Amino acid sequence: TQSVGLVGWRGMVGSVLMQRMLDENDFSLFQPVFFSTSNAGGAAPKWAHGAGPLQDAYDIEVLKTLPIIVTAQGGDYTSAVYPKLRAAGWNGLWIDAASTLRMADHSVIVLDPVNRNVIDAALKRGVKDFVGGNCTVSCMLMGLAGLFRNDLVEWMSSMTYQAASGGGAQHMRELLTQFGLLNASVKHLLDDPASAILEIDRGVLATQQDSALPTDHFGVPLGGNLIPWIDKDLGNGVSREEWKAEAETNKILGRGEAFGTAPVPVDGLCVRIGAMRCHSQALTIKLRRDVPLDEISDIIAQGSQWAKVVPNEREATMRELTPVAVTGTLDIPVGRLRKMSMGPEYLSAFTVGDQLLWGAAEPLRRMLRIALG
Ligand code: HSE
Repeated sequence: TQSVGLVGWRGMVGSVLMQRMLDENDFSLFQPVFFSTSNAGGAAPKWAHGAGPLQDAYDIEVLKTLPIIVTAQGGDYTSAVYPKLRAAGWNGLWIDAASTLRMADHSVIVLDPVNRNVIDAALKRGVKDFVGGNCTVSCMLMGLAGLFRNDLVEWMSSMTYQAASGGGAQHMRELLTQFGLLNASVKHLLDDPASAILEIDRGVLATQQDSALPTDHFGVPLGGNLIPWIDKDLGNGVSREEWKAEAETNKILGRGEAFGTAPVPVDGLCVRIGAMRCHSQALTIKLRRDVPLDEISDIIAQGSQWAKVVPNEREATMRELTPVAVTGTLDIPVGRLRKMSMGPEYLSAFTVGDQLLWGAAEPLRRMLRIALG
């Protein structure tokens, strides 16, 4: 069996990845070598029966011995280590969750239920760098794969509702701390049914605006609030998260200039909300032609094994099309499907996906399986 180096397995994405690999019995397919950026020489995780001690994740000589390396350590690690490893002549497969190498010409964005053809073609021509996509993009494509496969999307606008986990573990903690402090600041009033709601509201706002509220990670309160900007300011009115939508969607699909075809325009605003780990998106889709809604439902449902069409009804929507319903599952429900008043080629949709599963861990473990053959 081949050896596979695992870096960043202890963080949030890494932990979800390890759990999924255990659930799917992936460890029976290879010999894991665990790396650490801080604890080289320490013991491998207990569940990894027989794995040797932790190796130094910055030791190029050790990394070089592995035919495949999977990393969820983050972009700084990739920037620090990947160039040195290639410069040292390493020719192995690099499977990475970070965005650092995503748009590089030498890398492919992996989402095999959607772009297995792109992955297979890349392996055949000797591509060695396989990178997981942006969480929002991956979850959207897992829901709408059918529409893209049938080339029905002329353009799409995606307005997102992104969870705290997209920022990282500390961001989730900060959100919950804020919720707790907000509640505590008005608890005495909440407990009194006779208290005035506007007094409660004033108390909450005072706490949200109090500089003592922890906001180190999000910069401003997220509890009881929202933040309509995610990631860097590209200086042209577009956030980096918004830029990724079109760039990555087309790269995943094997479309756009690099492939000699016209890209599908995908644009919209990305908004952080106080959900835990599911990203949601409200989509406006301009279809290339007027396709009846029942056909659209079938195409979406057949797009992937995980896409689930939710009837566009109140009860089903409230029960099945929420972050709480989806968290911890691989399902990608797609609902609110209807033709919009702009015309029969305008389709609305709403979709939800666990950004730690399809948005991060799942495409990587599936790519590892493909690489292992
Ligand atoms: N950029 C994403 C977010 C993280 O902040 O939600 C996953 O790519």
